[in-house]
Amino acid sequence: MLGIDRYLIDFDTKDIEKQYHDVIIIGSGIAGVYTALEIPEDYNVVILTKETIEISNSVLAQGGIAVSLDKDDSPKLHFEDTIKAGAGLCNEDSVWVLVNEAAQNIETLCKFEVEFDRKDTHQLSLTREGAHSKRRIIHAGDTTGKEVCDKLISVVRKKENVKIKERTFAVDLIIEEGICKGVIAYDEDKSSYILYLSKMVVCATGGFSKIYSNTTNPDVATGDGAALAYRAGAELMDLEFIQFHPTVLFHPENKSFLISEAVRGEGAYLKNVNGERFMPLYHELAELAPRDIVSRAIFNEMKKTKTSNVYLDITFKEKSYLEKRFPKIYETCLNYGIDISKDYIPVAPAAHYCMGGIKTDIYGRTNIKGLYACGEAACNGIHGANRLASNSLLEGLVFGRKIGFEVQKIINENKESLEFEDFSIKSKRVPKVIDKEEIKLEIQNIMTKYVGIIRDREGLLYAKDKINEHYNNIKDVENLNTEDFELQNIILLSKLVIESALEREESRGAHYRRDFPETNDAKWKKNIIKLKK
Ligand code: SIN
Repeated sequence: MLGIDRYLIDFDTKDIEKQYHDVIIIGSGIAGVYTALEIPEDYNVVILTKETIEISNSVLAQGGIAVSLDKDDSPKLHFEDTIKAGAGLCNEDSVWVLVNEAAQNIETLCKFEVEFDRKDTHQLSLTREGAHSKRRIIHAGDTTGKEVCDKLISVVRKKENVKIKERTFAVDLIIEEGICKGVIAYDEDKSSYILYLSKMVVCATGGFSKIYSNTTNPDVATGDGAALAYRAGAELMDLEFIQFHPTVLFHPENKSFLISEAVRGEGAYLKNVNGERFMPLYHELAELAPRDIVSRAIFNEMKKTKTSNVYLDITFKEKSYLEKRFPKIYETCLNYGIDISKDYIPVAPAAHYCMGGIKTDIYGRTNIKGLYACGEAACNGIHGANRLASNSLLEGLVFGRKIGFEVQKIINENKESLEFEDFSIKSKRVPKVIDKEEIKLEIQNIMTKYVGIIRDREGLLYAKDKINEHYNNIKDVENLNTEDFELQNIILLSKLVIESALEREESRGAHYRRDFPETNDAKWKKNIIKLKK
């Protein structure tokens, strides 16, 4: 068993610059920025982001946002589809909030001048994606995340009450007597630490798909929020459920570019290397089955045909239609010599989304007073064991707004000024040269091979030993910069995912155990929670 250190660095708060804010938000994807915009303007907010504000997973989201707008659709049907995809593990109260509050948040986006594709001036265009019983995905071409984030960022930049601190890595939380009082952060521009103090800290740091080698996520997705929250005593939940997106470009020069599920929503077929369509053999919804089922089917076909990819066929659509509906996908594939109006697109599954994260209630509250989480970093049970397509940008909006409403209450309830006592941390960490890139690659390979789409006890135990070895090699190494912190977080998250996957001796949603292929409701219709001892 690994003993996880409380802090990644040594420090004495007396020597560190301190800044006070009403709310600290860590992360600048849709959840972080939208939360900032939903906080009343009388409160001052700082957004800490380790890269620039434009870099996040949300920006890369292609397909769209799920919302029941059509006349033959309803929040109830959206609820039912979400619950079904979640394979028995969704928290129904959270899902009701998600589906009932979807439309009002989309209205807010329209007020922020987000331009979704429209049928006409009054109606938004709706597409379908996997496991949705209705057409309910609103979109902006195939770059929905970018359109939403660009507009939100331009609004937030104008807010006088919101300060944006880029290249600032949130290293660890400061907790005193069970209350979260702030964040110790590394300012890359100054190469020094700053202590951000506040009555409310919101983790909106996204997921941790970078524990895998092939992922649709940008390099920033290293689970920093989940890791710092865990070290500080927050509960993490459902970590074993990692969603592998079925259709990610498989090209020697690019194995991370998403081919949106909306392409299948518009009719594309999946074919194996022999040109045979296979999804009808696996599920009645064929290409539009839930993601976990499609990814496993592809994995199986690749194994059967001894290949590393399958194909997506949308060649029956007009070139002019494809250029207009999927401009980014069309252009990107063309850059790799694939004309999607004529050629099949080589695809394979890759890590895409973490259903698990920091355990919260519907108001984003964690088990630590003053610590909140939303977006992919959080886990309030809306996704259960497998997220329904296009519920993720929506989650960032709906639960970001809920936290925005909480601010007034929390800060007014707690009027006296923040008390903070200086303290220092001295550990056994020493300087040591290590090849961080090599260690990271090895961890990602182990996770992909043994903790990926199909798992079993033997592989998980092997992965656990390997990760422990890496942990032991770096646990006493001095952490000096963002790369060091990220590596520590990747190792921690890998370890926790493996432990959870070993514990869940059944198959459910995105967690498939070859040695326990059945779903076992009697024993396992429950969440696995990780809490630092
Ligand atoms: C996609 O466009 O396929 C991704 C949408 C999502 O992950 O919900």
